[in-house]
Parts: sequence; C-alpha cells; structure tokens
Amino acid sequence: MRHNHFSHCFVGCLAVAMAALGAGNAAAQDTVKIGLVMPLTGALAAPGREIVDAAKLYMAQHGDTVAGKKIELIIRDDGSVPDNAKRLAQELVVNDKVSLLGAGSTPSAMSMAPIATQGKVPTVVMISGTSVVTERSPYYVRTCFTLGQQSGIMADWAIKNGSRKVVSVLSDWAPGAEAGKVFEQNFTKGGGQVLETLKVPLANPDFAPFLQRASDLKPDTLFVFVPAGQAGTLARQFAERGLDKSGIKLVGPGDIVDDDDLPNTGDTLIGVVTAGFYSAAHPSALNKEYAAAYQKASGHRANFISVGGYDGMHLIYETLKKTGGNTDADTVIGAMKGMSWESPRGPISIDPRTREIVQNVYIRRVEKVNGAPWAIEFETFPAVKDPLKEAAAQ
Ligand code: PHB
Repeated sequence: MRHNHFSHCFVGCLAVAMAALGAGNAAAQDTVKIGLVMPLTGALAAPGREIVDAAKLYMAQHGDTVAGKKIELIIRDDGSVPDNAKRLAQELVVNDKVSLLGAGSTPSAMSMAPIATQGKVPTVVMISGTSVVTERSPYYVRTCFTLGQQSGIMADWAIKNGSRKVVSVLSDWAPGAEAGKVFEQNFTKGGGQVLETLKVPLANPDFAPFLQRASDLKPDTLFVFVPAGQAGTLARQFAERGLDKSGIKLVGPGDIVDDDDLPNTGDTLIGVVTAGFYSAAHPSALNKEYAAAYQKASGHRANFISVGGYDGMHLIYETLKKTGGNTDADTVIGAMKGMSWESPRGPISIDPRTREIVQNVYIRRVEKVNGAPWAIEFETFPAVKDPLKEAAAQ
C-alpha cells in the first residue's frame, strides 16, 4: 500500500482494516437475518412445517423490506431434538450473525434459551405452549399460546355443563403435564374429580390401550391433550374403540381438534367441545383472508400452530418499524412489550410484564359445515393471560 514503514503501516493498516470492517458492517446492517429453529422432521414435524409455511406467507404478503432493511429468513431443522436446536441456534448467532431467532417446541425452546441470553438475541417463541419457557430468557417473547390458558377455561366450562368425573389422557411431556395440572386445579375447585391421569408417549403414540382404560373407569368426561399432528390418530382410535358413541364427553385444549387434521376426521369429532384460541372458522374478515391465503399457499387448512408463526413475523416486522431497523436486543424487546394488533385469531397483545401472549380463548364445538368438520366458536373469554404466571404474581 502507500505505507513503506512499519510505524506508518500500523496506523494506515488499522485504518484500512477499520474501513473494511465498517463496510462489512454497513452491508450487514442493511440485512436483518432471522433464524428459525423448527422441528421439520421427527415427532413434531407437522407444527414445524406449519410455522415455516405461515412465516413465508407473511413475507410473501408484506414484502421482504422493513424500515429500509432487507429481511432474510434462515430456516433450520432441529429434527425435534433439543440438543440440535441449541447447536443450530449457536451456529445461527455466531456464523450467520442473525439478529433475531424463532424458537419452536418446548424442549427445543428450553435448550436454546442460554444462547439467546448470552448472545443477546431477541427470540420469538412460535410453538411452545409451556408457561415456564418465557422465564428461561429475558429475550424470549411468545406469540403462540400456553396450555394453561386454554385448560383452566375448559375445566370451568365442563363443570358448568355438568361434568363431574374425568379421566385425563395426556401426551407425556411438559405441555401435557401443564394442560393436566391447570385443568385439574380448576376442575377440582369446581367440585369435580379427576379419577385417573393416563400418560401417552409423545413419539409414535398408540392411544388405543389408554382410551380403553379410560372408558373402563366410566367417567362422564375425558380430558385429552395431544400435540399438533396427532389429532387425526387420536380421532381414528377414539372411533375404533366406539368412544364417539359411548356417551362419554370429550373435551380438551384446541390441539385435539387441530384444523390441520380436522378435514380428515369424518364424523368422529362432531360435537367435541374445546377451549382454543384459533379456529380456521373464526368469523372475521382478516381470518377469512388468512385462511384462504394459507390454504392456497400450503395446501393445508390454517391451524392454531400456523398463527404463532404468522403473528411472530408480524411482531418482528412491526417492531423493526418502531425501532427504525435497530436490532439491539434490549431496544427490540422494549419495543415488543405491550404491542397489540389484530391477528387472524382475534385481538392479541404482548404482556409487558411477562412477554407472554394475551389472547381471547373461545369455547368451540365441532360441527359439520358444507360437508366438513369445523370448530365453531360460541363463547368468548377476552384477553386471557397465562394463568400460571398470574397465580405466581399474586
Ligand atoms: C409445545 O412444544 O409446547 C407444543 C407443541 C405442540 C402443541 C402444543 C404444545 O400442540
């Protein structure tokens, strides 16, 4: 270069190096990378696919530039294995230099939390329904749901409508435990009794023996939680045991009438009542538009998981508008707190105290409309917070 002497070179080379660094930064700063760590294979492949389809749909509808920044989505498959999620999140932060992360299922979101905290990376939780997850990092914000949010309201409704003896059938991992716990708290408080709690393995579940045992106990009601992707199997085995004609009521959080599976369940789930936050049949103009666009883009009926990804992208876009494209973690989280908007599911917001989603919970009954089963909302509980965090704050 221009400098022949070492002493000059020190200053000069530093300047060149800094200029290069500056240019690199400027280029980097024109792009905001978002790393989604989702289960695209393994036990939770269905919810992973739904998040990715919805996030891509959001970008197709709203463009890939926000506040002068180009948005780049980087998608990684954790194979439904939490250790993979942690490694992939670390690679996304260190190598790809993502500004934001999207976290998926409960075990993966738990395992990624230290990366978000140490790397100071704002992370939108898009699938996990377990309350404790958002406490694992101050940079976690949830756009999906908690199981408690739905299960407490389900218990209250069941009591009000005559249920007294329940058997719980729960997928055997954190969200199942939480659904069962909050249901039982409210159900026993209302004078009901949980006769037995049966736990079904998460991977490749065979519900038949558990459903048999449950019906042998002669409850008036079954409370069931299975995760997204398993409602079809549950419905088939429920019908094979004749439980749809047994007079035993089936209730649960919205997951058991997942819209992704519902079109293939025939008459089996007709009449089933759930407390859920999203139905593809939610009667708003925005949802009609969303459900039609999602169906067209993905070939599937829009479901409760998909809106966590769609709203997660909305939260990121609106936050970047608010910060003028600034991705500093504390600035981003500060901007996300208290944000509210209309989702395809109805009005939602981010609780500024807990970074949790606040949303309506609807009581819905599966009915046949135009020849296909849909979860039809008939009662609304507005602006429901996560009951476990509210109880802890008392
Ligand atoms: C979760 O990862 O917590 C989860 C996944 C799918 C569900 C519910 C909860 O349907």
